[in-house]
This record gives sequence, structure tokens and C-alpha cells, in this order.
Amino acid sequence: MAATRTPLIAGNWKMNGLSADALSLVEGLVGQKAAAGEIPFEMAVCPPAPLIPLVAKAVNGSGIGVGGQDCHAAEKGAHTGDVSADLLADLGCGYVIVGHSERRTDHDETDADVRAKAARAQQAGLSAIICIGETEAERDAGETLAVVRRQLSGSVPEAAAAANTVIAYEPVWAIGTGKTPTAADVQDVHAAIRSHLSGLVGDSAQDIRVLYGGSMKPANAAELLALEDVDGGLIGGASLDAESFWAIGEAVGKS
Ligand code: PGA
Repeated sequence: MAATRTPLIAGNWKMNGLSADALSLVEGLVGQKAAAGEIPFEMAVCPPAPLIPLVAKAVNGSGIGVGGQDCHAAEKGAHTGDVSADLLADLGCGYVIVGHSERRTDHDETDADVRAKAARAQQAGLSAIICIGETEAERDAGETLAVVRRQLSGSVPEAAAAANTVIAYEPVWAIGTGKTPTAADVQDVHAAIRSHLSGLVGDSAQDIRVLYGGSMKPANAAELLALEDVDGGLIGGASLDAESFWAIGEAVGKS
């Protein structure tokens, strides 16, 4: 990771946990943070939407951030069951994940949908964590770089800059499977992402954080987080346990 980009360690809880689980997880993290004092990374958790107020209250003053897992592209209106970016910001979120592969698959979200959601998130003052990544078939066909470039071109709003955008590279075949690309492969893809971002948004691409996601855990975090163009992680399964999630943060700068 480059010195100018503070690594972000973000937990994607997905559709897991009831209120008691959320509280004990977050209390564990707040305790770790209080014991650690200054840390060389930013940490944020993205709980299921209804748990956001509870979690935001529990992390208040700790320095740990909160994010949503999705938002609607519209400001407000007749969209039953959806959550607006303004509401997320109002509840204390600083981030929102958009375009996660599970949403692209489960809800048929296209790059254009993701871009509209990211733009709305930015207008609401949130930082959009825009997810991209190839499937196993695309990787096997040698299409990884073409896929991530196409997704970046389609999903990243023109106004993207370090203050309102984070990219998360998550190979679909690595999510929740225990499989990860080699460190060299991860670095190659991240470098290609940054270079493509430069073409889209200019020099500010140097300051935009590019996270790796997909089976990141304490055992592989130090190696992945040490890579030049990896600026943190988006962590699913291992973020559901305070000790393992914190241990991933502690791996920053340890390799
Ligand atoms: P995982 O999920 O860490 O459980 O592989 C990552 C993600 O989907 O963001």
C-alpha cells in the first residue's frame, strides 16, 4: 500500500446477525480499538440496514466507521423495501457498498445501476465502495482484466475521487470459498485497475483506495495488504468475529 492512501479495513456482514450478535461484535471491536489507540488503518463495518442505528450508536466516538450494504439510485420516493443514501448518511454512515457481486447476481444489477447508486451515494456525502470482479469462467477464459476494465468504465461515476470513492476488487470465485488469487495476480489486477481509473478520472486515481475482497482472513491478510496497489480489504466471513476482523487490521504493515 502506498503511504498516501490510508488502508481501509471494511467488514461486509451481509445478511447475518441479530441485534445481540451485532452488539457483541461491535463491542469487541470498540474494545480492541480503545486498547490499540492510534491505528495505521481505518476500520468500518457494514451491517444489515435495520441494525445500522444500533451499530452507529455502539461505535460512536470510537473512530470505527459504519456503512450500508446497498442504496437506491433515487433520492427518495415509491421504492418499497429500498433504502436511500440520504437515510444512510442521516443514520451515521460514511460508506455504502454498491455493486457487490451478490447484488449483481441476486438483483440483476447492471454496471449502469451501480454507477447510478454510486453517484447518489456521493451526492448524499457518502463514500461509495464500488465492487467489481470476474467470475471463475471469465478468469479461466483469460478475461479478468477486460472484465474489470469494463466494470470500472460502466460503474464509476465521473465525479469519483478519493473522498467519495473506494474500489473493491472481489473475484467472484474467491468470495466465501476460501480460495484466493496469488498475491502476484492480485497486484497485477490492482495495478490494472488503478491505471484504468487514471484514464477515467485522471490523477486522482492515485489517491483512490482499491481494496481486495474474497476470502481474506488473518492468515493471508499480511501478504495481501502489503501489495503496492492494495489499500485495504472488504471482508465478509472473517468480519463476523471481532478477533479475526481486528487481526486483519493488525496485519496492515506487518509483511
Ligand atoms: P468473504 O466475502 O470474505 O466471505 O469471501 C467478501 C465479500 O463478499 O465482500
